[in-house]
Amino acid sequence: MDTKAADARIKELGTLIERHNRLYYADDSPEISDAEYDELFRELQLLENRFPTLARPDSPTRRIGALPRENFSQVLHRIPMLSLENTLTESEIVDFDERIKRFLSLADGEEIHYFCEPKMDGLAVELVFEDGVFTGGSTRGDGFLGEDVALNLRTIKSLPLRLSANTTPHRLEVRGEVYLALKDFQQLNVEREEAGEQPFANPRNAAAGSLRQLDSRITAKRPLSLFCYGPGEIDGCEFASQRIFLDTIAQWSLPVNPLSKSVCGVEGILAYYREMSTIRESLDYEIDGVVVKVDSFSLQRELGEKSRSPRWAIAYKFPPRQATTMVEDIVPQVGRTGVITPVAHLKPVEVSGVIVSRATLHNWEELGKKDIRIGDTVLVERAGDVIPAVVKAFTEKRDGSEHAFPPPELCPECGSKVTKLPGEVAIRCLELSCPAKIREAIIHFASRNAMDIEGLGDKYVEQLLRFNLITTVADLYTLTRDDFMHFERMGNKLAGNLLNALEKSKKRELSRFIYALGIRNVGEHTAKLLASAFGRIENLAVASETELLSIREIGPQVAQSIMAFFNNPRNRDVIHHMIEAGVEPISEEKRLGGKFTGMNFVFTGTLTQFSRDEAKRIVEKEGGHATGSVSRKTNYVVAGADAGSKLGKARELGIQVISETEFLEILEKKTP
Ligand code: IVH
Repeated sequence: MDTKAADARIKELGTLIERHNRLYYADDSPEISDAEYDELFRELQLLENRFPTLARPDSPTRRIGALPRENFSQVLHRIPMLSLENTLTESEIVDFDERIKRFLSLADGEEIHYFCEPKMDGLAVELVFEDGVFTGGSTRGDGFLGEDVALNLRTIKSLPLRLSANTTPHRLEVRGEVYLALKDFQQLNVEREEAGEQPFANPRNAAAGSLRQLDSRITAKRPLSLFCYGPGEIDGCEFASQRIFLDTIAQWSLPVNPLSKSVCGVEGILAYYREMSTIRESLDYEIDGVVVKVDSFSLQRELGEKSRSPRWAIAYKFPPRQATTMVEDIVPQVGRTGVITPVAHLKPVEVSGVIVSRATLHNWEELGKKDIRIGDTVLVERAGDVIPAVVKAFTEKRDGSEHAFPPPELCPECGSKVTKLPGEVAIRCLELSCPAKIREAIIHFASRNAMDIEGLGDKYVEQLLRFNLITTVADLYTLTRDDFMHFERMGNKLAGNLLNALEKSKKRELSRFIYALGIRNVGEHTAKLLASAFGRIENLAVASETELLSIREIGPQVAQSIMAFFNNPRNRDVIHHMIEAGVEPISEEKRLGGKFTGMNFVFTGTLTQFSRDEAKRIVEKEGGHATGSVSRKTNYVVAGADAGSKLGKARELGIQVISETEFLEILEKKTP
């Protein structure tokens, strides 16, 4: 391949990969399989290695992989990043509006057009795009000097490294908030707890900790998200209002919160605030209020700013999801993976509409550090649908009767000695037959996001175990109506409902089944990847490390956990019994089509193992195309004997040439 062709292909691949990044990460609707994505990525990496001078600053290969640094260098914000005045009350919103109208000398009855946005609870950043290319990014810092976190920002998949527009300003500074979605936060903490690491207290801390990593390879593993909410310095473009600014940058493919809205006057602000308070609970990210901005940029300029905050904006915050109560007890709780967590039993207290009586203390090290004792008055906090946590103890309220709860030396459920693995903060019960671990694993199996066995909650699972009616999840599927009739307050109807729910769960999607198995390090997302890559549980059970690692996002640790799980004869037995009892996970209709979706093949020369028509049929059945001529779009040329000019063309374009046997081998494998 000559330099000119390489340059064109590098450019093409960059655009293509960024498009697929957007489809995958921002739109959640991938069009190609992971393997196809990897193929594109590898092709780009190879070309950039061969032609290093052609590598572009906005190349997707530069999203990951920088080595750790000693510290961050500092970046001066050309326009200081101010903060916002806060309020919690309606009357202060009325004052804010009146102040603005007075300042602008509006006539009686004239209303201000405001632009309202959710106040994201994350970390403020500034992004710099020069001629449409992402060239720098920093944290807010003290508002004047921030830290250069550009390398880490590059790992955020929804951040375009090149804006999708033909003409963009010469320099565009955009401000926004980096955050971690609640489900990603929960998953991250599950993984951290399983790995014996300290969990993050809340999504904001997790986002901040992830963005301020000196090793961007760690940041790359954290699924950070971004919403852009305002301009910094812009050279080469003018915007009339906040609404127009956000609409425009959204068209340039910068992520913008779709819940933002233009409203009129105080009434409009209050209605928006009420609307956001209601939907707050259903959002997959934390918001801590709404931000109200005067929409017109010329009015904003007229209003100007005070020392640390603009006159044209205000944060109207939600009441904190915190409350004060008392710790009645501290109870060690054994989880599915054997980790023993201290849980505070609290005097029930209402925290923004929800009665809280339990809160996690995360782990014993943190409990020690926070020095929370039985009898203490404490501050509890609820973040989204995350388990409530104890923030701190009011030590000044102690009267001497409080007492600390040391970490247990024996498992509270099975009495075996607990272990602290090297480098972990967690203590674990490693006893395989610990009843708590078995119970938690069964509860997890039946839970809503797993097999969704309606009605089969903690209480019934406990009773089934107590009466020795089950020992593994497979036993659930051999239960009879009589078995349930042992239970207190159980009638024919209820027993029938439970049996129906069990029956229904036999045909759940494969991804749910995989998740339900409780394989270490396999959360819902990974389970989905595995289900779509392997199609059947039988295939996953015999997957090799190479096959597992060929799936994007699956690393050696996860691959090892999966193999260890299926290598254990007890686990294989349980799965076997479930299948015998009629459990038949449905392979998800592969959303991404067949093995060759989007791929182009050219068959040339004399084929001996199949006819050309047969070959075409095979490729098409798997979602690919078989064409007659070699072009840059061709993925593979399959060459039989006496292949002619097409081979030369393939070599010239750097396209892989394979034999008939190699073609069949690719076909046999689960993913190309
Ligand atoms: S505008 C000068 N809009 O809130 C105005 N800020 O307390 C600058 N924040 O540092 C801020 N969501 O980190 C704005 N939609 C939004 C926001 C938002 C979250 C954060 C931001 C800022 C802090 C100010």
